[in-house]
Amino acid sequence: MKLFIDTDEQQLTVEGHAGRCTYDLYSRQAFEIISYQCLKVGWNQKYPYTFSWMGRPIIQLPEDIVRVQEVIYRVKPDVIVETGIAHGGSLIFYASLCKAMDGGRIIGVDIEIRPHNRVAIENHELAPYITLVQGSSVDERIVTRVKSLINPGERVIVILDSNHTKAHVLKELEAYHDLVSIGSYIVATDGSMKDLADVPRGNPEWIYDNPSAAARDFAKQHTQFVIEQPPWVFNESGLTENITHWPGGWLRRVV
Ligand SMILES: C[S@@+](CC[C@H](N)C(=O)[O-])C[C@H]1O[C@@H](n2cnc3c(N)ncnc32)[C@H](O)[C@@H]1O
Repeated sequence: MKLFIDTDEQQLTVEGHAGRCTYDLYSRQAFEIISYQCLKVGWNQKYPYTFSWMGRPIIQLPEDIVRVQEVIYRVKPDVIVETGIAHGGSLIFYASLCKAMDGGRIIGVDIEIRPHNRVAIENHELAPYITLVQGSSVDERIVTRVKSLINPGERVIVILDSNHTKAHVLKELEAYHDLVSIGSYIVATDGSMKDLADVPRGNPEWIYDNPSAAARDFAKQHTQFVIEQPPWVFNESGLTENITHWPGGWLRRVV
């Protein structure tokens, strides 16, 4: 595909297999096409690796952080389970929301919690909101341990951000989906891998081996879940689509 941006004529032209199409450079369509390309270039430049939350690195796109905040504030979970915690920035972010909402706690699972990350998380002022569990998120003992930390009837959101192969995410979805309350979500993050298969740091196998493929297969087998981008709480624009590394990853429990 070729993109031509003409700022003098204020036009974006897209040339691909299907032919040539020209858009007003300041239109919704041009914004979506340019943002999609920007997401890919930004990922290759490690843009999501430039943020922190209250002192801890958080490996996310700011829009995804704001969108998950919208969901957490609406659902008001008793427990947020996150698999894949890395430096702990996402745990601290979720904990900061729990503190602000005066409710909720976090369970973070990682196969390897590096000692310096553990120390930083455990010494953080929001540490009382967080329980760390070390081990593979699909190890039966770890799944049992996580479930033992949650009381019957508690409202739960699950965010899967560990190993992003389709097989692993499918196993995680199978292992944790029964925790999710009706109206709440289990999220298979980083489905953008399918779009990153052709960038220099990407991998061609990601076209089919990615978290959104796992979410799609899971939803076919578990009709109590639907794939659905959470509705925006506020929107005075004509836009409708998230600019996100989590496309096709939000599974809402409907029954
Ligand atoms: C993308 S990082 C997580 C980023 C973090 N959620 C954030 O927002 O900053 C992925 C993490 O998943 C962990 N991981 C990889 N395989 C795993 C597994 N099988 N079980 C649990 N964690 C795993 C890695 O150790 C790494 O820390």
